Amino acid sequence: MKDIVGTISSPAIICHGGAGHSAKDQPGVDAAVEAGWDILQSGGTALDATLASVVMMENDPALNAGTGGRIRSDGSVQLDAAVMTSNGQFGAITCIQQTKNPILVAAKLLGENVNILAGTGAREFADKIGVAREDVVGSSKPTGNDTVGAVARDETGLIVVASSTGGCTGMPVGRIGDVPLIGAGLWCDERIGIAATGIGEQITLKMSSVRIADRTAEGYDIENVLNWGVNQYPSDVEVGFIALATEGVGLGLANTKMPWSSK
Ligand code: GLY
Repeated sequence: MKDIVGTISSPAIICHGGAGHSAKDQPGVDAAVEAGWDILQSGGTALDATLASVVMMENDPALNAGTGGRIRSDGSVQLDAAVMTSNGQFGAITCIQQTKNPILVAAKLLGENVNILAGTGAREFADKIGVAREDVVGSSKPTGNDTVGAVARDETGLIVVASSTGGCTGMPVGRIGDVPLIGAGLWCDERIGIAATGIGEQITLKMSSVRIADRTAEGYDIENVLNWGVNQYPSDVEVGFIALATEGVGLGLANTKMPWSSK
């Protein structure tokens, strides 16, 4: 992969609060963008910016991630999160319990030999890196309110995607959606970073994020490739994406309501 560190670039960030969320959740997403933007403006990294944004959304009980993660069929809250960078690193955790901010655990896997950790293994890794065990309240709102995500570009040109979800209400223990699956729920390379939101099984079947990114190689702009991605789904399958490329601002597109904000 091309080494882009050292390139001077204009910082930018985009966040979403999940497909199916209404405008009442827009302020939480706006605040998350501001948190990441402050970091970028003071010369911080795209990684730190996306983590700050996603942590803020994980702490927002109205959104389906972290504290607001959906309660499973056995009453548990098992969370998924992933981070990918344009210089070829990936880290994800899935079905982790007792973890308020799973995105911070996923980020610690960047550059490690192991890419993805699940369940008790993920939680033991969190213990090892000093992340406290805390009960996560969770939410039993109906499925259809899905996932949070952020994509940022820093002044070195590095792009980072971070995504976190509580899955779907009532799903079985151990079920894994699209978020921790590379190429499905997120993708990042030297051209573009993309985060998906919607029904995880559908997004995984289509490997949407990497396939949208590949369209950019054919010379299409960000609006065109996101339109193509959304149009791969029938209208009764709620889906949305945010994307940010090597220049310009980010864009969000969905076939349903999806609060998103960018700077
Ligand atoms: N899109 C999140 C999930 O289905 O788990």
